[in-house]
Amino acid sequence: MLATKQTGRKTWLWAAMIAAVLAGALPAAAQDATVQWLPSASKTVIDKNIYGHFAEHLGACIYGGFYVGEKSDIPNTGGVRNDVIEALKKLKIPLLRWPGGCFADTYHWKDGIGDKSKRPTMINTWWGGVTEDNSFGTHDFLDMCERLGAEPYLAGNVGSGTVQELSDWVQYVNFDGASPMAKLRGENGRAQPWNVHYWGVGNEAWGCGGNMTAEYYANEYRKYATFMNSYSDKARVFRIASGASSGDYRWTEVLMRDVPHDLLDGVALHHYSVLDWNAKGSSTEFTEEQYAGIMKQAYRMEELVTKHSAIMDKYDPQKKVALVVDEWGGWYNVEPGTNPGFLYQQNTIRDAVLAGMTLNIFNNHADRVRMANLAQIINVLQAVILTDKAKMILTPTYHVMEMYNVHQDATLLPLKLLTPDYVYGKESIPAISVSASTDKAGKTHISLTNIDAHKTIAVAIPMAGIKAAGVTGRILQSGKLQDYNSFEQPNKVAPAAFSGAFIRNGVLTVKMPAASVVVLALN
Ligand code: AHR
Repeated sequence: MLATKQTGRKTWLWAAMIAAVLAGALPAAAQDATVQWLPSASKTVIDKNIYGHFAEHLGACIYGGFYVGEKSDIPNTGGVRNDVIEALKKLKIPLLRWPGGCFADTYHWKDGIGDKSKRPTMINTWWGGVTEDNSFGTHDFLDMCERLGAEPYLAGNVGSGTVQELSDWVQYVNFDGASPMAKLRGENGRAQPWNVHYWGVGNEAWGCGGNMTAEYYANEYRKYATFMNSYSDKARVFRIASGASSGDYRWTEVLMRDVPHDLLDGVALHHYSVLDWNAKGSSTEFTEEQYAGIMKQAYRMEELVTKHSAIMDKYDPQKKVALVVDEWGGWYNVEPGTNPGFLYQQNTIRDAVLAGMTLNIFNNHADRVRMANLAQIINVLQAVILTDKAKMILTPTYHVMEMYNVHQDATLLPLKLLTPDYVYGKESIPAISVSASTDKAGKTHISLTNIDAHKTIAVAIPMAGIKAAGVTGRILQSGKLQDYNSFEQPNKVAPAAFSGAFIRNGVLTVKMPAASVVVLALN
């Protein structure tokens, strides 16, 4: 029987399911969820930058995570760990945001250039009160992005900086000619500009970025953005306004209303999946109730991008301004015994399904969501990599990002989904999420998650209009929701070949095990 709250959704669903049953694709009892392809007049490309990441000067993200210094015994190039670079290249990391976060509004970029032994220090007031020696700066970051093949996304300092300082940073990294900042760059060993496209104008201006009102920030934004020059076609600046926290719809409304759109390329949104800011719970030792609570928070992303997009549509019906979810992920208590200011947490199957569900939401909203940055890339919050001195492990979230990278720059296949809910106590959340795309070589990929902690759910996908002789796939799952990779057991959670999908009589059936993430390729 179909367990769903969405029975009002059109008769096609029943028709599709009945057709599938009659066609003998499934026993009726297994008809748990159904997908229907939607015709689409315009082709939406899933911007690869939806698969972006975020690196802040926070805990061991930069120092110890990326950067160990030129003199380290850990194999490195220019102080940046080689193992980390290789792992991120395999991920096809498209974009990296830096240097914050809250840190960005305390950061003065000129302190991080030139002779490292002469750089001034500063106190990292947001994250642990540690002394920052500025040994990892603009050149280190931008050269590292070149090695990664990733676009840099620089977050400018609005909270404690000046218009001149941010304007100079743009000139320093982007101007190709004779100018004071280009000269300084050359003296520091880099003749050619890096041509940085993506720029954040402050971060969380409503909070750590200056506790501003939306109206005040909109005016500040207008001023800062005016002096961020596009020096050439190759160095056209894409300016992103500091955006709302979760459901602060008024913030988006004011920005879209008050900032001229020729100054505005993107509006940010931050949403963390957290149970309670005062009782976040452990990253590894959690109950099913806490699991369901986090899934509910993660699923809220669907409502958030829908409602923020609707406000943007009102002011920008042609969808020129991007919605940029430049911080998202699960946030738990730090691991016992670690510095509370360093936000170091483990990463389980819970995080894997959270990531898969969220990326499906972004894919399905790719007409407006054109960039997103998982918080954060190494050793902080929902990291894809954890390090311990010379050791490095890949988290379940890494594997999901790697499995899903087939969607980068592929054409979205719009769909409708009918799914039962995963019900736990007072929480009731759609159990299945799905998104699909066709890549440039013509191959179709379908990614699915099942957040239900106990039930296998069969998903029936009529193949109408999609030609495929067969299907192959990979799955990420583990025995327990709480399973994770540790330095002792680095491959406990890893993708495996998936044998639960088959095409029969024009219907693709996918048997999604409980708490699993699957990516299929139609061949
Ligand atoms: O990602 C950690 C912090 O969360 C960031 O510095 C800030 O922007 C957000 O509040």
